[in-house]
Amino acid sequence: MSDYQPLLLAHAGRPTPLSLEEYQAEDGYTAWKKVATEMTPEAVIEEVKASGLRGRGGAGFPTGMKWSFVPKGPGDKYLCVNADESEPGTFKDREIMETNPHLLIEGIAISAYAISSRVAFIYIRGEYAVAADRLDAAIAEAKAAGLIGNKIFGTEYSLEIHVFRGAGAYICGEETALLESLEGRRPMPRSRPPFPAVEGLYRRPTVVNNVETIANVPFILRHGAAWYTTIGVPPKNTGPKIFCLSGRVNRPGNYELPLGAVTFRELIDTYGGGVPGGRAVKGVLPAGASAPVVPADKLDTKLDYDSVAAAGSMLGSASLIVLDETTCMVRAAARMEEFFRHESCGKCTPCREGTGWLHKVLVRLEEGRGTAADIDLLLSLSGEINGKVLCALGDFATSPVTATIRHFREEYVRHIELGRCPFPSWN
Ligand SMILES: Cc1cc2nc3c(=O)[nH]c(=O)nc-3n(C[C@H](O)[C@H](O)[C@H](O)COP(=O)(O)O)c2cc1C
Ligand code: SF4
Repeated sequence: MSDYQPLLLAHAGRPTPLSLEEYQAEDGYTAWKKVATEMTPEAVIEEVKASGLRGRGGAGFPTGMKWSFVPKGPGDKYLCVNADESEPGTFKDREIMETNPHLLIEGIAISAYAISSRVAFIYIRGEYAVAADRLDAAIAEAKAAGLIGNKIFGTEYSLEIHVFRGAGAYICGEETALLESLEGRRPMPRSRPPFPAVEGLYRRPTVVNNVETIANVPFILRHGAAWYTTIGVPPKNTGPKIFCLSGRVNRPGNYELPLGAVTFRELIDTYGGGVPGGRAVKGVLPAGASAPVVPADKLDTKLDYDSVAAAGSMLGSASLIVLDETTCMVRAAARMEEFFRHESCGKCTPCREGTGWLHKVLVRLEEGRGTAADIDLLLSLSGEINGKVLCALGDFATSPVTATIRHFREEYVRHIELGRCPFPSWN
């Protein structure tokens, strides 16, 4: 086991959140004071760029670069924190917000200052009532202490932070749908360009960042980018990452480790306590339902953005769902497709109609009513969706199909030959 000491989840498991006093006792808000009183916004952006921090919401986009796209000059700018956390198997942002809300608030203050935003929103999924209440309370504490609000630390800089309870759909986490929802409309993604950094909330420049991304920022400014790059694999996979481990493991949960420190196998066996009953792993979904399944022969891949990409998948939000040897991959694909069909916002025809068809054909195959032509039909349908839609949900919806056919085609063939599912029905 690694001797790494968690930063983001240093207080995981606490029944109550860290108070302002407790957070300050461990140097909380010292980075924010230094930033607000001694640094320019440009210097903060340069420090975050130098840290190599990449967005933890899924795409792994470099955070400092994203901030540098925001145009300088007068006028309102917004920071929106994406706390929608709706990817199946993802539960990391919740633990940060519930145990250490001031870490997120300090990160928001520094990030908002860097892009010269004076209003920040935390878009939190509606079901996260405990986290939302704790954030509200922590924001009030920070405001009463003069850490946010008007003329902070006697400077000209002011910042208001609002918690916005989400509208309850997976698509609300897509950044432009999130902005629509914040503006009071149905969460349907916008066509890009313009990108949010140029034209986002209320048509003003906006940065959308994930909770875990923002929670890294105070550590970068407190200890410096050079220190931060000693965690993980520089230059492109730096810093800590929370891995949400679930599915067929003995000890599911959040494990915070440096990027690239462990392989899939080590995470499952050493941290997750292996698979119940000592069964073999058949594959791992590295990013909930959204990224291609990583088959068992790739379990020695390191858990960082570039290594998982080289293995033919995506680290994404790092919500790893373990599938064991008793899992029917056709049923797993059908189940994931049911999710995407349900969550498609319906704005694009290929996604709205295609996800329904993919689901229908997968169910037919799983029940033993399919033919060999159905496998080709699934691939052709996926080709009509992938890259031809407005947002990544449509692309995500094709990966359960294409990846299970690529790695487990023989399971599809067995269903067709037997005229039934060869796996146990309880599974
Ligand atoms: C369908 C869909 C759902 C998403 N859900 C989330 C989410 O719940 N949380 C999140 O941070 N990003 C989510 N994203 C990614 C966001 O669009 C965006 O890339 C992210 O918030 C950027 O933050 P980052 O740069 O800090 O990673 C989702 C994307 C898609 C296409
Ligand atoms: S791809 Fe799907 S979810 Fe995304 S905008 Fe189009 S219909 Fe909506």
